[in-house]
Formats: sequence, C-alpha cells, structure tokens
Amino acid sequence: MISVDGAIVAEENFSNVLLDIAVLRSLNIQVILLHGAAEQIAHLAREQGIDPSDVDGSGPTDDVTLELAMTAGNRLAHEILEGFAAHDLRSAVTNAINAQPVGIIRGESQLNTGRVEKIDVELLSGMLERGVVPVVPPLGFDRSGRTYRLNSDAVAVAVAESLRAVKVIFITTEDGLLDQGKLIRELPASELEKRLPSNEEAAHFSNLSKARAAIRACHAGIPRVHVINGRTNEGLLTEVFSNEGIGTLIYANDYQQIRSIRKKDVRHLIQLTRDSVEAEELTERSRQDILRQLDDYYLFEIDRHPIGCVALHLYPNERKGELAFLCVSHSHERQGIGRRLMEFVEEKARQAGVEMLFLLSTQAYSYFQEKAGFVEGSIADLPAERSAAHVGSGRNSKILIKRLSEHLGPRSRVS
Ligand SMILES: CC(C)(COP(=O)(O)OP(=O)(O)OC[C@H]1O[C@@H](n2cnc3c(N)ncnc32)[C@H](O)[C@@H]1OP(=O)(O)O)[C@@H](O)C(=O)NCCC(=O)NCCS
Repeated sequence: MISVDGAIVAEENFSNVLLDIAVLRSLNIQVILLHGAAEQIAHLAREQGIDPSDVDGSGPTDDVTLELAMTAGNRLAHEILEGFAAHDLRSAVTNAINAQPVGIIRGESQLNTGRVEKIDVELLSGMLERGVVPVVPPLGFDRSGRTYRLNSDAVAVAVAESLRAVKVIFITTEDGLLDQGKLIRELPASELEKRLPSNEEAAHFSNLSKARAAIRACHAGIPRVHVINGRTNEGLLTEVFSNEGIGTLIYANDYQQIRSIRKKDVRHLIQLTRDSVEAEELTERSRQDILRQLDDYYLFEIDRHPIGCVALHLYPNERKGELAFLCVSHSHERQGIGRRLMEFVEEKARQAGVEMLFLLSTQAYSYFQEKAGFVEGSIADLPAERSAAHVGSGRNSKILIKRLSEHLGPRSRVS
C-alpha cells in the first residue's frame, strides 16, 4: 500500500517513483496507490482566488472546497494513469471507499468531510489479482452517490487494514519522521507513541499526521509502516530493498506478544494444541518432548492469554531450521496471527544463520504455500536425523521448504 502526498505527484521526481513501482510490479509485488491532493487544492484555490475551508481533509470541507478537491483529484488521478501507461503498467481509478459524513465535531459541522465507512475489498483484490494497480483518490462516496473529502492518511490505514497489507509506505516531502530535526530510522510503534507530542503544533516533531497514522496502522495489524522522501531518486526501491532504507520504519510490536516459553507454559501449550492433535493436524508432543527442547517453543499472547504457538528446531550443521507446531486457537483464527508467528520464526531462523526453513504438514500445506512462500521439497531436503524420524512416523506428511536467501528480509516485505 503506497500513499503519496499530492505535493510529490507534482514533483519532477514523481515519474521516478512510478518507475520504482513498475519495478515492484515486475517482481510480482502487489501495489495499491493512494494519493493526497492538498497541494493541488491549495494551488487551484490560489489560481481561482478562493479561500478553501480546508486542504487536507482533516477539517470542514465546504462546497467550494469539495469542488476544488474533485477537480484536483481528477487531474491527479489522470496524471498518475498517464505515468503508469508510460511504464507499461495497467492501472485504474477506483471508487472503492464508502464514506459517511463526519458530522458535527465540537459544535462545528464538518460539512463535506467524510470518514471511511467501508472498503470495497472485493473490487481492490480483484484488480490486484488481474495485475491492475488500483489508484485510490482521497474521496469517498455514500450509498446515494454523494462525494466526501477524506484525509488520505486515514484512507491509507483503512485500505491497508482491510486488505491485510504487509506494509504501508507514505511518500512525503520530508525525509521521514523527524524528532528535534533528527531522522527516526526505526522504531517500534509503542516507542513512537511515547515520543509523540500531544500538541498538534509541536514544532519539534515533523509529519505528525503520518506518525499518528503509522501508530494506528500498527495497532490495526499492519506489521510495518515506512515514511520516505519522494524527492529522492530511487528512494522507494532503496527503502524496500536495502537493510538501512532511506527513511523511517515504524513496526508493530507483535513480537513482544510472542515470547519464549517457560516450564509453566507447557501445560497451556498442550491445551492449546489438543484439538489440532486430535484432528491429526499436528503431531502429538508430550510434556517431556517439549521440556527437552523448551527453548525452541514460542507462545503468542493477547493480554497474557496464550492464543498461538510455534516452534523452531535448528540444525546448525546443515544451516537448516524446522518450523513446527504452529497452531492458533479457533477463536482467533484468520486474524493474521499464524502469519505473524511464521514471520517471527523466519526472522529468528535468519538470525541463527539458517539458509533453508522446512516443515512437514499433512493438512495445512496449501496455507504455507499460499501465505508464506513455501514450495514442495523432498526427503533429500531434510537433515539426515530428521528424515529418519519422518519416514518412521508413517504420517506421510508433505515436505515444504523455503530458501531464505531467495526471499526478502523484514524491511523488504511489500504488499
Ligand atoms: C493453519 C493455522 C496456523 C492458520 O492460522 P491463522 O492465524 O488462522 O492464519 P492467518 O490469519 O495468518 O491466515 C488465514 C488464512 O489462511 C487460510 N488457511 C487457514 N488454514 C488453512 C489451511 N489448513 N489450508 C489452507 N489455507 C488455510 C485461511 O482460509 C485464511 O485465508 P484468507 O487470508 O484468504 O482469509 C491455524 O488454522 C491452525 O492452527 N490450524 C491447525 C493446526 C495446523 O494445521 N497447523 C499447521 C501444522 S504444520
């Protein structure tokens, strides 16, 4: 999910941003492009001698300003479509945001300013599946077809959350988030929250609205949010593909919810996995089995309740690692917890120098193939001691592997 400020679309370097997006698409990375229009609204207003009620969709939008927003939005979207066409990319402007009026805040009517009610996920994912880049303007529509002006940062978070994006990248006119003029390189969302000034006008913090959006996005389950300068040539690719990046990376604190287990957790682990063991989705592990490799197991907790678990067994001589015993409680399925546990294990494995992750699965192999990039392997891919146990188990599980060097690291995952 890429969200570009209107000011950047007007810049000379914007064609390079589009070129970077074309490179991402050529790598089969799905991209949604959202754009702001504040700069263009302000410009049109100056041209026409109008005093706009608000330019960035955070205050009230009167009829004249809405007109400006629609004109600016159409022009911008057209420029983006032209730019994509020049790079041989298929794209289309969408009306995927259902909106409602914000209403009255502190006694003041917000007029045509809206808030996101619902995202048309089917429309956007259908386009993504067909290789079309959806272009989303900062405008929403209600069921009677009325148009509302929306704040583009809020739309970016809502779209990313609905589509379970792995990343939001805000392309702005600043180098990233700056605190006392100093660029924040990487920070967990909880730390950023502590640093944020309560005062909107706080001079020492730049890009406050993006910082708030980044925190909201992380709370909503988006693992990573980047804020970069759209004027930097190849900035987008550098941010995505280099370890250091060029801007700010804010990441969710999910890993804090994932922790190593202690002896007293073994009971919870067995309880949590009981149904899946009975359904033969998981191989049974006794208390002793788990205690023997206690350090290999991790729990995912919400409010200190165990919700999921996973294990990573290392085979350092062969630089291989086994992802095992992945389980998420029924009550919390389909919330991305399984994915987060897999990402966690992958990260741990990378840190331990693992070159190939493998796993054995009887019923969830398509999950690992579709959601985590595993491919089918063979018994020759297993470490020698593991292949003997595999043959002996008689479970006839599928062997799946993932060569970590062929996949991007954490800063580099894009959706
Ligand atoms: C497989 C499991 C870990 C997924 O956990 P989760 O937190 O629900 O997964 P996520 O939220 O990351 O992903 C959900 C997506 O995976 C799909 N999915 C879940 N289980 C699947 C399976 N067995 N096969 C194929 N797809 C599956 C869901 O349909 C959903 O698809 P969507 O994103 O298109 O809606 C969980 O269902 C589980 O504990 N299953 C029982 C134990 C098991 O089989 N473990 C694997 C042992 S090797």
